[in-house]
Amino acid sequence: MNFSDQTSNLANREAPLEIHGDEFRKLGYKLVDQIAEFLDGLSNRPVTSGESPQTIRNLLGTDTLPEHGSPANDLLDEVTDLLLDHSLFNGHPRFWGYITSSAAPIGVLADLLAAAVNPNVGAAVLSPVASEIEAQSIRWIADLIGYPRTCGGLLVSGGNMANFVCFLAARKAKVPWDLSVDGLSAGNRQLVTYVSKETHTWIDKAADLFGMGTNSVRWIVANEDHQMDLDALEKQIKADLADDHLPFLVVGTAGTVGIGATDPLPEIAAICKEYNLWFHVDGAYGAPAVVLPDASIQLKGLREADSIALDPHKWLYSPLEAGCVLVRDPHHLIKTFSHNPTYYNFDGIQEDPPINYHEFGLQNSRGFRALKVWLGFRQVGREGFMKMIGDDIALSQALYEAVGTHPELQAVTQNFSITTFRFVPLKLPDDKAAVETYLNKLNEELLNHLQKSGEAFVSNAVIEGKYLLRACIVNFRTALSDVEALPEIVIRLGRKLDSEIRPKSL
Ligand SMILES: Cc1ncc(COP(=O)(O)O)c(C=O)c1O
Repeated sequence: MNFSDQTSNLANREAPLEIHGDEFRKLGYKLVDQIAEFLDGLSNRPVTSGESPQTIRNLLGTDTLPEHGSPANDLLDEVTDLLLDHSLFNGHPRFWGYITSSAAPIGVLADLLAAAVNPNVGAAVLSPVASEIEAQSIRWIADLIGYPRTCGGLLVSGGNMANFVCFLAARKAKVPWDLSVDGLSAGNRQLVTYVSKETHTWIDKAADLFGMGTNSVRWIVANEDHQMDLDALEKQIKADLADDHLPFLVVGTAGTVGIGATDPLPEIAAICKEYNLWFHVDGAYGAPAVVLPDASIQLKGLREADSIALDPHKWLYSPLEAGCVLVRDPHHLIKTFSHNPTYYNFDGIQEDPPINYHEFGLQNSRGFRALKVWLGFRQVGREGFMKMIGDDIALSQALYEAVGTHPELQAVTQNFSITTFRFVPLKLPDDKAAVETYLNKLNEELLNHLQKSGEAFVSNAVIEGKYLLRACIVNFRTALSDVEALPEIVIRLGRKLDSEIRPKSL
């Protein structure tokens, strides 16, 4: 076909991807009906199909890229079955693995609407309403946790990214030479970060990927409550200063990923003030719990932070992905991330300056993550989140108590909405070392069986060498009956496994 033939066919262009109103409506209504039925019937399904990667690969087949298309109706039918029959459902009432919440249905609808409008929330001119909704969401998250609403912030894909953004802002703020132009090595001093041993693995990635190396991270010991040891922190800062290193950042955690411990945040804030260090709080999981009337003084210390990471896709029940960055002084974000080439025409007018989110973080083109968060706030308000978070904690406490009543279960920790415990068969011999080795193996195998069974889904924690089962309830669908069912399930699977794998010597 030559050029003029092609253009003459474009007078009434029919693009292969277009779906017009009537068909879209038909497809959409059917899909929404299927999703509604799926959500209503979630508790009757297994938590996961538990199938192997190869089984799933076989379902998809090994065909090469299709040369020609297929009708959208057939595709949607096929993929709906594929997803609903072969997924793990973190929206199931008995999903308590890692820290992934049930997705709020209003967030599901929000993502559909956001994709339909498809604003590019990198620049206000490309997303006039969406940028303002994101700004309001940031203010509301700050309001929720008692942080100054004059802070800067933005939504990112999750906790890792939110912590990265804060880490980079901290580094830019505290390095005394021109990092943007002269780079990391210009100062000839080792930059140093302080974290507790319980800090999430994002810090390894940050130190590695942002050119500082993991040797720049000082892993401060934790006390018996799994909180950063303050004496050890101060001693290490002094030692690094004496060695002419450049300490710049202390990370405190509000709700550690393992057992939900909170570092002594007010005391860390004071140490940061004294040594002129940036105080960052990783509140990816636990920060929203500060909304509760009985929030601890330690947790409230997050309000003194220079920056906070908090994940709406954890304890604000947003569908994946939604992480949030809050930085007390917004200029630190602009200073770190703003680059404005001549082909950007995003400045607007001085009297009414727009918020251009490409200047606040790593992304340029950005999706409308804020809509699902914003609608969640509008649907249930502060009061709704207080109730759901409080209920999750109460259920976790109920689980801890229920576990404690069974002689074959050992309850170990309960913080926020995380309970850890393990299966300990009756009548084990006195050889402590051999028994501990066996219990670790038994509980690890038990976890694998439990996860595959689809009856309930928990993950694991390792504390003081003990392999534990870990249930984290960030799930507004979980009820008391779900929690009460877990001990029986674990004991049934544990007894069976014990009879199969216990070594003869025990
Ligand atoms: C305390 C903490 N920080 C950071 C993260 C990382 O979050 P994401 O998986 O959303 O990147 C997690 C995840 O569980 C976490 O618990």
